[in-house]
Formats: sequence, structure tokens, C-alpha cells
Amino acid sequence: MPQYNGMLRSKLPNVGTTIFTVMSALANEYNAINLSQGFPNFECSPELVSLINEYMKKGYNQYAPMQGIMPLREAIAEKMQELYGAKYDPEKEINITAGGTEAIYAAITAVVNEGDEVIVIEPAYDCYVPAIELSGGIPVYVQLKAPNYTIDWNEVKKKVSHRTRLIMINTPHNPTGSVMTEKDMAELDKITKGTDILILSDEVYEHIIFDGLKHQSVCRFPRLAERSFIVFSFGKTYHATGWKMGYVLAPEKLMTEFRRVHQFIVFTVNTPFQYALADYMKNKSEYLELGKFYQQKRDYFINLIKGSKFKFVPASGSYFQLLDYSKITLAKDTDYAIRLTKEAGVASVPTSVFYHDQIDNKFLRFCFAKTDETLEKAAEKLCKVK
Ligand SMILES: Cc1ncc(COP(=O)(O)O)c(C=O)c1O
Repeated sequence: MPQYNGMLRSKLPNVGTTIFTVMSALANEYNAINLSQGFPNFECSPELVSLINEYMKKGYNQYAPMQGIMPLREAIAEKMQELYGAKYDPEKEINITAGGTEAIYAAITAVVNEGDEVIVIEPAYDCYVPAIELSGGIPVYVQLKAPNYTIDWNEVKKKVSHRTRLIMINTPHNPTGSVMTEKDMAELDKITKGTDILILSDEVYEHIIFDGLKHQSVCRFPRLAERSFIVFSFGKTYHATGWKMGYVLAPEKLMTEFRRVHQFIVFTVNTPFQYALADYMKNKSEYLELGKFYQQKRDYFINLIKGSKFKFVPASGSYFQLLDYSKITLAKDTDYAIRLTKEAGVASVPTSVFYHDQIDNKFLRFCFAKTDETLEKAAEKLCKVK
């Protein structure tokens, strides 16, 4: 292909291929066990797949409404009421999206203007900052405190200015597996009360929470809910990350702005999946039991690696476990992740990639949304690392 020779000003000059792609490619090349990317290596429900198939065969194959189909929005409203005591109007306050990613992008695009500041708590999921920057916003960073990765609210308070438009939070948290508490929510309330600051709460792992902890959705707290976009993902809940199906909740005034943007990104998301999910959501135990299901996986994995040289604090939520390798080497985490893939045969993600300035705490992130067999094989290899 002849190359374009004209002027091109990149809108995201610092963005390269994501680490997830790099590590997965390396895992393939070295035939390593891939615990790097966050997706299950087991099947999603055959019943759900059949439902999608049925709806396709019945002819549900044309555009759905821009907001998403009503039965799915109604099922979500019912779930929010039952689980969190929160009332969302399916007509005006719930929208189906192309995964959590599109919801995050559309929400940021809808409310962040040139020069607005957005507080980003690091380590942070990788789609936040590019979306802020594409809108001309300025990310203002606050770091979680290792090893428990808690939020230092004094630090957040110090970073708030008259230009702060949005605070982004994520609980349960990727990559650290930490979860926010009721006290965290009270602190967030103190900081935002009486201001125009909005909140984007990324709750895609809402059901993947362990040890009897309760998911503290911002929607439980009316003063927070009234200024929040809340983002969820069907992909995480139903072991089907490749479907890229999610939803966003927000009070009407915010949702109006969200929809103005969403309709020109994707307009709507695929129809038969929406009908199938609306039916399947009636099966409540599917999401209510998810925490238990993943807690078993977490426990299985950490028990298997207890004898290894890796140190860890068990994840409280999400399907990621951080492992501290500082007893093995003080090599840079990006280098060590590559070495571990090539030499030990286990691929992970170095946590420095979740920081804008690549802070290296000597932690690697491992995804335990894998079959027991995969976890056993990975653990066996990790235990041999000296
Ligand atoms: C914290 C966090 N937010 C959002 C997403 C995106 O969700 P989806 O795959 O539904 O776009 C992910 C996916 O890994 C995530 O870990």
C-alpha cells in the first residue's frame, strides 16, 4: 500500500498498542498460559446463546430503539430497585450501550469540555484518559495507596479545583481488586456536596465481590446518584465479554446529554442480544451467585500459589489478583512480565501501564476468570519461579 504523505496531527499521540494485545500476542508466541487479558476462558450460558439464536430466527434483526429495548430497560430498573433500593425510570434514565467502554466514552464526551479537569484515580482502566483527552479535558491524577489500594480522600480534596467537572471512580477495581466502602462514599459525598462536580462510577464488576462485602454502588446514596453516571457491563456478568453489551444509568438531565452523544456513536446496539438478555435477567440467581462463583476461583488460585515466592493481599472484588514479585527480582514490571511469559510460561499484565507516569510497584495482574485446570497449570508454573 502506498503511504499517505500529508500532514497528520494525531489526537492521541501517546497511545500505542494496548498492553493487553501485546501480552496476549506474546502468550500465543510462547505458548504461555494467558492470565493477562480480563476474560473468562470458559463458556457462557448455552441457554442465553439459544435465546439469542431464537430471537434472530424470529426476525429480531433490525435496529433497536436508540435507548435500548424497553423490556431490557425495565428488567434493569427492577434489578436496581431490588438490589440497591434505587429508582431509575426506564424511559428517561437507563440506556443500553455497546459495552461499558462505549458508556464511559459517551458519558465523558457528553459532559467534559475543553479545559475541564477530571479526577482520575490511578491505577486506572485504560479507556478513561484517552476519552478525557479527546474531549479536551485535563486528567488530574490521584494514586491509590498500596498495598491495600485505598483512596486518600485528602489528596482528592486537594486536587479539586473550580475547573473540576468530573470525578471517576471504579469499584470493584481493575486492576487492584480493591472495593470502595460506605465510608469512601461518605467522603465522596463530602467533597461533591454543594458543587457542580459530576461522578462517573464504573461498576462493571458490581457482582464480583467477595468475603461478604457489599457492593457500594453510588446509586445507594441519593446525593451521589443525582450527579452520577453509573456504568455496567453484561459482558462481565454473563461471561461474554466479546458481546460488548452494557448499560448506563443517570438522572434525566444527565441522560439527555448522554443520549445526544450516544446516538451519534453507535445509535443503538444489537437487537437480538437485548431481547435475550431481557429474558435471561429474570434468572436472578445467575448474577446473585456470581460473587460466590468467582470467590471460589480466587481462593483456588491463591491457595495454589501460597508456596510460591509471590506475595499478595487477596482481591476483595473483580476477577483480578495482584501478585507482588519483589522477593524474586527488582526488575521493571514491564520487563518482568515479558520474562515471566517467556521463561515461566505465564502471561500477566504489569500494573505500571495503568499509571500515566508508569509507577512501578513490582506488581503484576493475573486474571483468575479461568477454568480450574488453567489455574492449576498457571499456579504450578508460578510456584517454580525462583
Ligand atoms: C474497569 C473496567 N471498566 C470498563 C470495562 C469495559 O467493559 P466492556 O467490556 O463492557 O466494554 C472493563 C473491561 O475490562 C473494565 O475492566
